[in-house]
Amino acid sequence: MVYAHIAGWGMSVPETVMTNADLEKIVDTNDAWIKDRTGIRERRIASDSQSSSSLAVEASLKALQVANLKPTDLDLIICATSTPEHIFPATACLVQDRIGAVKAGAFDLLAACSGFIYGLNMAAQSIQSSAIQNALVIGTETLSRFVNWQDRNTCILFGDGAGAFVLRASDRPGGVLSAVMHSDGSGSNLLILPAGGSKYPATEATVQAGRHYIEMDGREVFRFATRVMAQSTREALELIDLDLDQVEWIIPHQANIRIIEAAARGLKLPMERFVVNLDKYGNTSTASIPIAAVEAVEDGRLKPGNKVVLVGFGAGLTWGALVAEWTGPMETKPKVYPSRYRFWARLRSRLRRFARFVEGLIWGRHS
Ligand code: ACO
Repeated sequence: MVYAHIAGWGMSVPETVMTNADLEKIVDTNDAWIKDRTGIRERRIASDSQSSSSLAVEASLKALQVANLKPTDLDLIICATSTPEHIFPATACLVQDRIGAVKAGAFDLLAACSGFIYGLNMAAQSIQSSAIQNALVIGTETLSRFVNWQDRNTCILFGDGAGAFVLRASDRPGGVLSAVMHSDGSGSNLLILPAGGSKYPATEATVQAGRHYIEMDGREVFRFATRVMAQSTREALELIDLDLDQVEWIIPHQANIRIIEAAARGLKLPMERFVVNLDKYGNTSTASIPIAAVEAVEDGRLKPGNKVVLVGFGAGLTWGALVAEWTGPMETKPKVYPSRYRFWARLRSRLRRFARFVEGLIWGRHS
């Protein structure tokens, strides 16, 4: 049997910090309300030169470094994002080009904040079926570009960032053990970015009406989230007959501390078993779970051999949970330096563009 191990991890967040006090200057809100109702103290905001793919590239190279894997070893890149750089091409392809993952298939996955769990499950299934050996799963967001900074109901919640895991095939037991994925499109109106797609293409009217920003029914999303977090955690554990007391860590989607507290009550677990860092980053959608996982590994909480549940919910509506045994870096020799591939990737990309240009001249651009 083939197992899909989480062998590498990395995160990247913008340097610019926006505190609740900064928000007080923009909208009618205050630090006490935000901390009390959400647990968020600050969030990171991408600079003009940063984008969903640039944050993803940073996180991915770090994950490859931990896994000691070359970008050219990757067979698959799944980029879960709610804020892709374009409708097409996929942000995953931009990352593929910039890291030089010349062998990899690459696509974006849109399941909003549940996207990282969905993506991890898809990559693990591909490895477990022996279709591929090595996969990169990314969650990356620049939500600040889609937030209406006049809407206090939403702008206080979101932040930018990226996280990535490298999955590797091995016959050693462990890695991703089970997963559940759910959806309910009847709640599609509860959290939506209405315009800019094929239903409401961008027009002057859609821009004037502010329909290119996130719209949310916070109370309904809250009620839904508190219901599904504990439920899907139990479901994923039941699939492999694992008890909650055999699990060291729950890493939930970082949306609101009160949602995580409700999940803890529902599972009858103390909050100490949950990894929480939403106070620093707010809700980074698909990136929130991998960023929380990376911080938990780096500060020594999450150790090889630990059982962990990743659980999340988001627009769609979607929700899901995934159980894994944390592996840590696997034995690979010799040491590789994935970031050095960046230079060659850029060179390769330019040469290919140039070759395409020359071919165009030779064959005629319109023939
Ligand atoms: N500052 C001050 N007051 C505010 C703010 C603010 N930023 N926002 C709302 N209020 C006011 C409201 O106007 C309301 O006043 P009123 O009673 O006079 O009408 C009062 O505070 C309470 O408003 P509620 O909406 O009931 O506040 P609630 O306690 O529900 O908190 C929140 C709102 C934080 C949005 C909460 O509902 C929530 O977290 N919902 C889930 C959202 C979520 O997780 N979304 C992401 C999903 S994942 C994805 O796919 C991206």
